[in-house]
Amino acid sequence: MLIKICSVSAAALVVMIVIRKYREYKWGRCKSKRNMKNKTVVITGANCGLGKATALELAQRGARVILACRDPEKAQKALIDVRSRSNNGVLKIMELDLSSFDSIKNFAKEFVRSEEQLDVLINNAGVFQCPFMTTKEGFEMQFGVNHLGHFLLTKLLLEKLKQSAPSRIVVVSSALYKTGCLNFETLNSKSDYDKKMAYKNSKLANALFTRELAKRLKGSDVSVYAISPGMVWTNLGRYISISWWKMIALAPFALFFVRTPYQGCQTILHCAISEDVEGESGCYYSNCKKEPYAKNALDDKVAKKLWDISEEYCQKAKH
Ligand SMILES: NC(=O)c1ccc[n+]([C@@H]2O[C@H](COP(=O)([O-])OP(=O)(O)OC[C@H]3O[C@@H](n4cnc5c(N)ncnc54)[C@H](OP(=O)(O)O)[C@@H]3O)[C@@H](O)[C@H]2O)c1
Repeated sequence: MLIKICSVSAAALVVMIVIRKYREYKWGRCKSKRNMKNKTVVITGANCGLGKATALELAQRGARVILACRDPEKAQKALIDVRSRSNNGVLKIMELDLSSFDSIKNFAKEFVRSEEQLDVLINNAGVFQCPFMTTKEGFEMQFGVNHLGHFLLTKLLLEKLKQSAPSRIVVVSSALYKTGCLNFETLNSKSDYDKKMAYKNSKLANALFTRELAKRLKGSDVSVYAISPGMVWTNLGRYISISWWKMIALAPFALFFVRTPYQGCQTILHCAISEDVEGESGCYYSNCKKEPYAKNALDDKVAKKLWDISEEYCQKAKH
């Protein structure tokens, strides 16, 4: 009997390992061997999760990596860790809080003053399903950080990106954008707030922004890519509490679907450095491959309206 139980368990374990390996194979890997020496990359939210994993990969390829983080202490810890594991590249911390226009403007001003070039901008920082909160200027936090803060940051760094062309912008969206639906009337409304929808909508905003920006950058040799990293084991769920029994019930699911930050950052890396995406701009990538956008991201009128409203919000906050 014991032998039977042992052999069934061993067989189940082998099957699980094979499925996991197959899924890892399907997730893909950035195959580019491009050397990033003398290239400057800015990564927002680089102190943990996908941002930190991307910083490590780029440092290992010799890049000058600017860790754009809101908490200098966390950023310093990440820098020490990345430095010790990469033995390559140049790492620098610059303070950036995407929930404050003043912080974004100070960051951009200092960056433009002190850095000669910007080859890759990675808009990675994000907030997931937080309770209703607002940015310093009063915008709903998920929309404010995931979209609006990055919108302003990108605009302020655009001249530098153009001067450094060919250059790239990678926008970290999520496959959840596919079920988003932007309602411009209730974007910042507390009474209409639904934390799940607000996240999906902010990620749809990332996709629409990517398409609209690509249009506006035509002919500039600055390319922009939206990506989905897949489901990745990071701190992103910090506002979600799951009971221990749910954790146990979900564990087998996690084994097949959840990626490590190293696996999750591969599509970011692919769009940041790969020769394969050269000449493509405004597209969406998942598992290191280009994928068609869902219908909700293909509405040009909504993309234009989002751009105009974002500009208006950034302007208004000036006064
Ligand atoms: N993990 C996933 O399964 C998954 C799936 C799809 C898409 N994504 C996207 O991937 C990106 C990275 O997320 P992650 O999974 O790596 O999560 P994470 O580990 O929580 O990292 C998020 C980063 O964003 C930073 N951040 C949050 N608010 C900020 C602000 N106001 N100003 C500046 N930085 C801020 C955080 O800084 P602090 O540490 O100081 O808070 C942290 O460095 C996000 O855009 C997320 O939407 C993740």
